[in-house]
Amino acid sequence: RAGDSCVMIIFGATGDLTKRKLIPALYNLAKAKLLSRKFALVGAAFDPFTAEAFRDQMLDAIKTYATDELDAEVLAWFEKRIFYVQGDFRDPEFYWRLKELCTEVCGKNAIDENYFYYLATAPIFFGEIVRQLGHAGMTAEECDNWRRVIIEKPFGHDLESAKELNNDIKKVLRERQIYRIDHYLGKETVQNIMVFRFANSIFEPIWNRRYIDHVQITAAETVGVERRGGYYETAGAMRDMVPNHLFQLLSLTTMEPPVSFEADAVRDEQTKALRSLQMLSPEDVLSKTARGQYCEGQLEGEPVPGYREEPGVARDSRTETFVAMKLMIDNWRWADVPFYLRTGKRMAARTTEISIQFRRAPLVLFRNTDIENLQTNRLVLRLQPNEGISLQFGAKVPGPVMQLGPVKMDFDYADYFHCTPNTGYERLLLDCMTGDATLFQRADMVEAGWNLIQPVLDVWKALPPRQFPNYAAGSWGPREADELLERDGRQWNNGG
Ligand code: BG6
Repeated sequence: RAGDSCVMIIFGATGDLTKRKLIPALYNLAKAKLLSRKFALVGAAFDPFTAEAFRDQMLDAIKTYATDELDAEVLAWFEKRIFYVQGDFRDPEFYWRLKELCTEVCGKNAIDENYFYYLATAPIFFGEIVRQLGHAGMTAEECDNWRRVIIEKPFGHDLESAKELNNDIKKVLRERQIYRIDHYLGKETVQNIMVFRFANSIFEPIWNRRYIDHVQITAAETVGVERRGGYYETAGAMRDMVPNHLFQLLSLTTMEPPVSFEADAVRDEQTKALRSLQMLSPEDVLSKTARGQYCEGQLEGEPVPGYREEPGVARDSRTETFVAMKLMIDNWRWADVPFYLRTGKRMAARTTEISIQFRRAPLVLFRNTDIENLQTNRLVLRLQPNEGISLQFGAKVPGPVMQLGPVKMDFDYADYFHCTPNTGYERLLLDCMTGDATLFQRADMVEAGWNLIQPVLDVWKALPPRQFPNYAAGSWGPREADELLERDGRQWNNGG
């Protein structure tokens, strides 16, 4: 189904996200005929652009970042639908000008007055913009017209600020109007976790503590903090990746089958899974988490600087660029199954994956076989890059002696579906335009995530500063991350 007729208003429209992701995604939707013909885009930002200058920038962005071949007709159609309003988000008068422009755009182009606000600004503006929109009478839903707000991450800085932001925006909006985005949920392979689990009958019976030994969730990046040193200094790897992206992967992997694929049915189960996570005591924080910061090193044979040398980063920064943790889930399905999570910048390889290690065969029947060390059954859901799924099992190595080795059955997304890559935002924007909030976070999910990491943040803050840096760029993270698993007689699956 194509999106409803609407005006999308992007706050912070001159920023990177708009150019790299949002505009190319809208263009891809238009090309796929999934954007209503009665659509307009209004950019809102502080920069003193004319509408023409903004339009030119957006067209350049499409030419640079669109993932599909350019179609001149679609481009020309799109161009006529781009508008711009300049102003200060704290100034009430700005909202009246915005309102006037939106009404005019709708009137002239026969667009229904459905407004979809995208807050792609610095987080300090989230509450303010929603409050001002409310004051200007731009959030109340009248007759058949809807008003929806997409809020980018980070949603809060800790549990308290997340709760505060939820309270503030709920004074103006109903929960069904709020779309808290987590771009991981726009990834095909993340959505596929649900399909894999709930559209196939052979995996669900073994998807539990009886058959699964442990699970590893890795989001390793080779990039550093790029131009975002200022933001990253206030966030660190934990806040940046764990309560949002990694917990999405964790909850989709561990949740119970929902009663339907309605937004709330799915989100109820995800929230339940997050609430079943065992809270970490201060002692647990010491023994079940590891953190690190990279120093200079080598990536693909090239020297790369350390975190403290990156622009916008303090020379004595204590910010972690790597985090690993062991979590347990207190429910019948997962009791006693460890979940090891890790994420880091400047690691040896870019890989986001969920690796499910099944238990060993109960009996060694093959003599001369070191079955103890043979990790035979492992299922890896590769989210990026080389999206796909692989199942590893033990096979006889050809030859006169009985020898076993691991082999793989591989499914590769790109090979199988010959799909063109997309920005990952198409599905999320379309869902917002059709009113489907399944792939967006609800207030209770966000708070459940922060609730779990808050004790870790508190203990880290109370401890004397760490000896940072403690891992080299281009490695698999600090030694203490390996020790976390070694203590349990296990190892990270580094692409094995
Ligand atoms: C963002 C984080 O939310 O996700 C970044 O702020 C991180 O630090 C990025 O690099 C990772 O996203 P992806 O899609 O490249 O895995």
